[in-house]
Amino acid sequence: MALYDVIGKTYAQTRRSDPRIAGKLREILASSQASTVADIGAGTGSYALALAEYAYHVLAIEPSAMMRSQAIAHPEIEWMNGCADSLPLSDQSADAAIIMLAFHHFPDYRQALSEVHRVVGSGQIVLFTYDPAMISSFWLTEYFPSFIKEVESTFLPVPQLVDEIQTVAGNVVNVIPFPLPHDLSDSFAAVGWARPELYLDSGIRNGISSFAKIDDSELNSGLSRLKEDLQRGEWDQKYGHLRQQSQYDVGYCFVHRPAV
Ligand SMILES: C[S@@+](CC[C@H](N)C(=O)[O-])C[C@H]1O[C@@H](n2cnc3c(N)ncnc32)[C@H](O)[C@@H]1O
Repeated sequence: MALYDVIGKTYAQTRRSDPRIAGKLREILASSQASTVADIGAGTGSYALALAEYAYHVLAIEPSAMMRSQAIAHPEIEWMNGCADSLPLSDQSADAAIIMLAFHHFPDYRQALSEVHRVVGSGQIVLFTYDPAMISSFWLTEYFPSFIKEVESTFLPVPQLVDEIQTVAGNVVNVIPFPLPHDLSDSFAAVGWARPELYLDSGIRNGISSFAKIDDSELNSGLSRLKEDLQRGEWDQKYGHLRQQSQYDVGYCFVHRPAV
């Protein structure tokens, strides 16, 4: 069974699109004329909707039935069951492709890139992803140390990702760092960088695949240490300055191959 058929039951509740991420995505897409956008690994469609509401036609590709069952309906979103390594789309049928926090889930990422290139031709390719080189500096790993290995083995280092895209699709590839706002509304793994209490909420953790992958003893010990440190003020002593920051570069970025 696909991972998101198991962990995706409440995804639509905690993983709403963040308006700042959606705004940056639209700003990037506006760099060339694009009206039809393929959203690969579209999930429940939160970013598809953020484009459809701005007059884009979105081809939303998603393999998990659980995620598609929560799909957001919009006349400009066409939902399709499919995987990145064999896209149910014809050659050059989209002006651009977006892959939002999904690339690290694709088992054959080279084949996926080649499929994306086939579908967009000379159009734009935009990924929103995480640079695993940053993971060990994130305070959360003090409580859940196996996140380091898990993230390093799951996410492609950004320089390698850039090379892979250049090899398959040519053209320059730009990396655009995206510092996270303190009140991020898409509750992905770093959502609590300035709001540690969020990780004590099982509803938030359920929408984060990294939490689904750690074993129960590490999870329980990390949660009780975090709870205690918060109660005793120790977290605030060490990291309380983060609560005052409006944004923080945890390691997320857009990777963009502009239209040729
Ligand atoms: C973290 S979710 C992101 C969903 C959505 N892009 C978003 O930002 O809300 C990752 C998604 O990738 C999908 N996925 C996993 N393997 C895939 C594959 N081989 N091809 C396409 N999508 C895949 C999962 O089912 C899941 O919906």
